[in-house]
Formats: sequence, structure tokens, C-alpha cells
Amino acid sequence: MNFKGKDVVSIRDFSKKEIEHILSVAKTMVPAAKGQEISELMKGKILATLFYEPSTRTNLSFKAAMLRLGGSTLGFTDAKGTSATKGETLADTIRMAEAYSDIVVLRHPQEGSARLAAQFSKQPVINAGDGAGQHPTQTLLDLFTIQDELGSIEGKNIALVGDLRYGRTAHSLAHALAMFDTKLTFVSPRTLKMPGEVIRHLEDEGAEPVISDDLESVIPDSDIIYVTRIQKERFPDPAEYIKVAGSYRLDQDMIKNAKQTMRIMHPLPRVNEIPPEIDATVHSAYFRQAFNGVPVRMALLALVGGVV
Ligand code: NCD
Repeated sequence: MNFKGKDVVSIRDFSKKEIEHILSVAKTMVPAAKGQEISELMKGKILATLFYEPSTRTNLSFKAAMLRLGGSTLGFTDAKGTSATKGETLADTIRMAEAYSDIVVLRHPQEGSARLAAQFSKQPVINAGDGAGQHPTQTLLDLFTIQDELGSIEGKNIALVGDLRYGRTAHSLAHALAMFDTKLTFVSPRTLKMPGEVIRHLEDEGAEPVISDDLESVIPDSDIIYVTRIQKERFPDPAEYIKVAGSYRLDQDMIKNAKQTMRIMHPLPRVNEIPPEIDATVHSAYFRQAFNGVPVRMALLALVGGVV
């Protein structure tokens, strides 16, 4: 399996075997991700991180991953300080980033931007979220987390909850979970359903997702409840956001009939979907999930860099 120089634009660009290989490399990165071992796999290499949208975990964990591999990073977290404000196109900015680095990470509000960037860049481009499109590296760390928490992904009952219309983490994850023969349930307000295009692809893959708007009834059978934030910034009409804000807030009472092994995941940031009192329960896995971004992104950088 050779990942050297490969772009990471959509999770659909990867086969199940390739995903499993990335997850197994990620496992070997855990000690270095925790600082218990020193790695110099990417020594002398530079990662460019171009964030045109806000980010905490994705940005910091990509940087931590590169630094833990002995490499360096440069980039921006706010396009206001760049020539984008002077009217420079994404294509031209990407040409600069590829000239100054070995791998380019891009987060951009426009769907399809990462695919476009990959066409203009000789260096590999990694999609860190393109609008409401895809977020493939989040999916890899989500899969890693499910495997780590439950022992395997295959055959598990997984409910994706919240904003399935605009949530890119849910789109990417659904595609991947279909490859792993999971039983999928999609829980969302009527106006924020999983896009028809995603559902059709899942059905082509042989998945038969169950659609629901009743979270409470879904909890007892679930192995994973994957909660997402309502994507306020993607609503064309703020009044529509107000109507659905606060839908599906988990509380202690709702999870009292959950399996003991059920795990709650969330790509974060959370707004009010998961109150802090859930953090101390055996079910919360979201902070471990956020840490897993480091070993998974280390594996991806090392694979794309051709050093493992
Ligand atoms: C998500 C994103 O940016 O899509 N966050 C992340 O990368 N961990 C989810 C979100 O913003 O709601």
C-alpha cells in the first residue's frame, strides 16, 4: 500500500483496506503522540496549515502531529491577514503554500475547495473540512475512536445525531461506516436530514440507514451515539437556525437505559448538545476522541510523506 504524495480530499477516495492500514499505523503513533517516545520521521519537512474557517482541534492536532514527528509547521488561522483580502484566488494561494512546504492542509468554507486545491498543488493536499462537504481526517479519528472504545467497528449500531444536512463530519463518517457493515440510524430535525445524495451512495454500498427524529427511542440499542452541533454558520436564514437550535440535547435521564458499553462521541465544539454532567459518565468518549486526532494525523502525515 503506497500513500506517498496522495491527496486526502474525501473518505470515498480510500478503500476499507486502506482505512484499516491508516488506523493500524495510527496505533503505533500513540506513544509519540503522548510525548512518551521521540519520533523524527518528518524531520526537515514542513506542513502548511491554511485555515479559512475557525478551528481548534483540527488545527492544533495537525500542528501537534507534525511537531511530534519532528517536522515544522507554518500557516494561518484567519484569512483576514492574508492576500485573500486583496482578492487573491485560492488557486494562487495554494501555489504559494505548495512552494513553501511539503504537505498542505486546507480548511475552507466552500464545498469542493479541497479538490480544486489538489488540482493546483504539486504537493499533497489534505482536506480539513470544505464547507458542508467532507472532513475525511475527522472520520479517520472517529473510526479509530470507535475501534479503540468498542474493540471493533464491524456490525455496531451507530446513531448519527443533530445537523446531518450541513454537518461535514457526519457526511464523511456515514460513507466510511457503510464500508464497515454497521447499522446506521440518522436522527435529525426534519429540516436537517442527511442529504439524499449521501443516502443514495450508502444504499449503493448496501447500507440501509434508518431515519428517525426520536433520539430517546434510539438510545437503548445504540453502541455509539455520535452527536453533532447545529451548523449555525451554514444557515442561509438565521430564523431557520433559531427554529432548530437546542434540538436533541442529551441528559442523564435520556441515557439511563443505554447499554453500559454505549459511548457518546462528538467531533466538538459542543454548544449545548451534551451538558457537562455527561462528561463524568462511563459513556463520554469525546475528549479521548479529540486526543486521537494526534496519532491519526501523525499516521496520515507520515504515510503521505512516504516515511512509513
Ligand atoms: C467540526 C468541523 O469543523 O466540521 N469540528 C472539528 O473539526 N472537530 C464540527 C463542527 O464544527 O461542528
